[in-house]
Amino acid sequence: MRFPDDVPVLRDGTVTLRPHRLDDATAVLEQCQDAISQRWTTVPVPYSRADAEGFVTDAVPAGWAAGRWAFAVEARDDRGAGRFCGTVELRDEGSRRAEIAYGAHPWARGRGLMERALRLLLEWGFGEQRLRTVIWWANRGNWASRRTAWRLGFSCDGTVERWLAQRGDLLDGWVGALHVDDERRPRTCWLEVPALAGERVRLRALREDDVPRIVEACSDDRTAHWLWRVPRPYTDADARAWLLDRSEHLATGSALTWAVGDPRSDLLLGCVNAFAIKPERDAEIGYWLHPDARGRGVMTEACGLVVRHCFTPYDEGGLGLRRLEASVAEGNTASRQVVERNGFTHVGRERRALQLGDGTLADSHTYDQLAEEHRAR
Ligand SMILES: CC(C)(COP(=O)(O)OP(=O)(O)OC[C@H]1O[C@@H](n2cnc3c(N)ncnc32)[C@H](O)[C@@H]1OP(=O)(O)O)[C@@H](O)C(=O)NCCC(=O)NCCS
Repeated sequence: MRFPDDVPVLRDGTVTLRPHRLDDATAVLEQCQDAISQRWTTVPVPYSRADAEGFVTDAVPAGWAAGRWAFAVEARDDRGAGRFCGTVELRDEGSRRAEIAYGAHPWARGRGLMERALRLLLEWGFGEQRLRTVIWWANRGNWASRRTAWRLGFSCDGTVERWLAQRGDLLDGWVGALHVDDERRPRTCWLEVPALAGERVRLRALREDDVPRIVEACSDDRTAHWLWRVPRPYTDADARAWLLDRSEHLATGSALTWAVGDPRSDLLLGCVNAFAIKPERDAEIGYWLHPDARGRGVMTEACGLVVRHCFTPYDEGGLGLRRLEASVAEGNTASRQVVERNGFTHVGRERRALQLGDGTLADSHTYDQLAEEHRAR
């Protein structure tokens, strides 16, 4: 396709997709010097005015001839003047497949403009270019990109380790796809962590500043004994990887993890996890406590708040589940107390089903609780 003659102008009443112009170069320069753009894209660092001018006068026009369909996004500012908002692009990969790419000028972020621009781009791609599948890649941890793709209806099918090249490094990449016949709306429930207040605990979302306490708790021998997946030794990097993993589960609606905070100091005392969530059906419960919080009923109360949230009907702000399950290793008396005090029933024993920190296998005691039992308590 020839630039700019074959480049269509696409409008939805708020944003316009159009060919790039030389007078976009200043805004392109600002966008590509922005720290967020540099962190999450492959723009050259440092980025110069010559790079910006080369992008709009050479790279974009040459790209159109080679199946890189890049549009400038424009919207009106508060005074009604047209303003450059960023670039959205489909890269033809043959066989009616393309990759999507996007970047917003800092001014344009957080206004819903990129979502509108990408909807126009996708409808043009699926319609005029007769695409069947569009693939999305993002560096793992680029939540703004993931949330944008999620809103548009993309899947996120997982992480490919050390695949995305960026300035000499190979970074982990999230990958997902949108098909021509997919609905253009989120396909998973992106869970939020609701604050749950008790007398001795306050449950809240995990945060970066919890890392030192997580490291202490997971370095503890008792934690490591009962939770064999906890790496040994346990480092800051392990805690950060775990936080990212927890956020990924929220995004797919598969698990909801709370920090158990001290109600006065907000210090992290432990964590409760509702995982393997099957909406409107069931989930499993797991937990651990920092050693200095043990022995005073903290987890019994925290677990009780989570159980109540899980059984609270969906339209009253809970998860609306009908059954909860917990597995406790043979010999873990403290953990059995927590589930028994919270109304769980011992329903079975699976032999040699749980691995312990020393590599041995322990019998697993299965407990469950039904919503109607919880209501009757
Ligand atoms: C990706 C990008 C184009 C999205 O722009 P945008 O649609 O205006 O959206 P925002 O930047 O406001 O973020 C989108 C969403 O992610 C959320 N988000 C942003 N940073 C986040 C973070 N660190 N953690 C969790 N959520 C985050 C925002 O709250 C917003 O949520 P909402 O949809 O509920 O409103 C823009 O952030 C950008 O230019 N980023 C740099 C370039 C880039 O990453 N491109 C994609 C490469 S794959």
